Amino acid sequence: MEKELVAVIDFGGQYNQLVARRVRECNVYCEIYSYKTDLDKILERKPRGIILTGGPSSCYEEGAATCSPELFEQGIPVLGLCYGAQLMTHVLGGQVARAAVREYGKTEVDVDTTSRLFADVTPHTVCWMSHFDYIARMAPGFRAVAATANCPVAAAEWEERGLYAIQFHPEVLHTAQGSRMLYNFVRNICGCAGDWRMDSFVKENIKAIREKVGGGKVLCALSGGVDSSVAAVLLSRAVGSQLTCVFVDHGLLRKDEGDQVEAVFGPQGDYELNFIRVNAQKRFYDRLAGVSEPEQKRKIIGEEFIRVFEEEAKKIGAVDFLVQGTIYPDVVESGLGGESAVIKSHHNVGGLPSCVEFREIVEPLRNLFKDEVRKVGLELGIPEQLVFRQPFPGPGLGVRIMGEVTAGKVEMVQDADAIFREEISRAGLDRELNQYFAALTNMRSVGVMGDERTYDYAIALRAVNTVDFMTAEAAEIPWEVLKRVMSRIINEVRGVNRVLYDVSSKPPGTIEFE
Ligand code: XMP
Repeated sequence: MEKELVAVIDFGGQYNQLVARRVRECNVYCEIYSYKTDLDKILERKPRGIILTGGPSSCYEEGAATCSPELFEQGIPVLGLCYGAQLMTHVLGGQVARAAVREYGKTEVDVDTTSRLFADVTPHTVCWMSHFDYIARMAPGFRAVAATANCPVAAAEWEERGLYAIQFHPEVLHTAQGSRMLYNFVRNICGCAGDWRMDSFVKENIKAIREKVGGGKVLCALSGGVDSSVAAVLLSRAVGSQLTCVFVDHGLLRKDEGDQVEAVFGPQGDYELNFIRVNAQKRFYDRLAGVSEPEQKRKIIGEEFIRVFEEEAKKIGAVDFLVQGTIYPDVVESGLGGESAVIKSHHNVGGLPSCVEFREIVEPLRNLFKDEVRKVGLELGIPEQLVFRQPFPGPGLGVRIMGEVTAGKVEMVQDADAIFREEISRAGLDRELNQYFAALTNMRSVGVMGDERTYDYAIALRAVNTVDFMTAEAAEIPWEVLKRVMSRIINEVRGVNRVLYDVSSKPPGTIEFE
């Protein structure tokens, strides 16, 4: 049986991977193609439906991203979203023009629930708008099936032809019933049965990796983080002993973390990874001695990491493929994504490749969001404690120790952090908070312990709630929990006589405390 596939044609909008993700949530497999891809190539894949995404251009301008009119004549249902809706209108003979009022943000919309697109959607609902052009006149054959105060054609359809155009963004969660609309398109209009699951992703990926890698030699930098762990295990399932994983312990990991990573991925673990642990703690501490400026510390850690990895790679010899655990948000943030515009350059992407000799990069998670990567991880049998690990920066505790980094300070912050994490789990807050950790301030102050005067460091506790890590709020941790953490840290961690709780949000603070 042919696999059910929905093709998403990317016109460069910001939400394109979200469209793909929502399709996957309907248990339908989907592939994303640039709008520049030959239509024949897409049709060869026999898609059950096609979705045209949003994009930054104006479809009536010369040189704007476009599509061939034949796309709409294949008897395959097509759904245009935002720019995709305008393009469909424009190509099929309607009129798109600059709107008098630019609509942006949550907007009330009336939908015609007799349209199959809006089955089971409430007639008056909220959608997410982001457009300056609008459909001034529908293409012949279409009827309007949704409207907002400023946008008379918020959606249009030509049911007999299976053509649907939506001006707003159903893929964005702010469109209250957007997932239902996409479900209606994919499952009801395209008629997909919805039998695709994450285990299919795993199987298909393993097959694709085998085809790509053949008998080649593969190298992976394993950090113990979720993404690189899932990528490594996928590769090991696909090509087994052709894979070597190098884990650099820079001495800036959390308490016992190096050993935990080794226990899972090393020779005693369940995976065939040719795991090499490099204990480079001393090298990093030596290079960090006397350095207190945060950016300089980051630079040193990054450079030293590459040097250590390079030395290891040399021992292994030339490899054919380098594995990277890049996930979709990294792709967008580094501006490497399909047709999407650059948003922010990311800390980790782009460091490694240049130092190792290899033929090609393998990025099996490139199209997935973090929670999807976690699902794949669980599917692969990776322990939950690793799959649900909270984010941890590449430079590790180097960015959680203010001022000079020394082995003694690393131990202090590791111990305090372990206590904090233990108490957070005990209080049942670990899955609720998005990130929490202890940092060591560079402040020493006078205290009294027993009958003695102390002059010791202050530990800062940080715990935040955030959706995208771009903005964050300090979490309101129960006072009782904070008091218990404080008391344990002061009693159990030598050299600390104060515990502070950071209540700053981001911005103006950052999540890390460096
Ligand atoms: P900030 O501190 O910028 O952090 O608010 C936002 C998120 O990014 C993580 N972070 C990093 N992650 N390498 C990483 O992989 C880094 O250099 C790095 N610096 C910050 C931070 O933990 C938070 O989740």
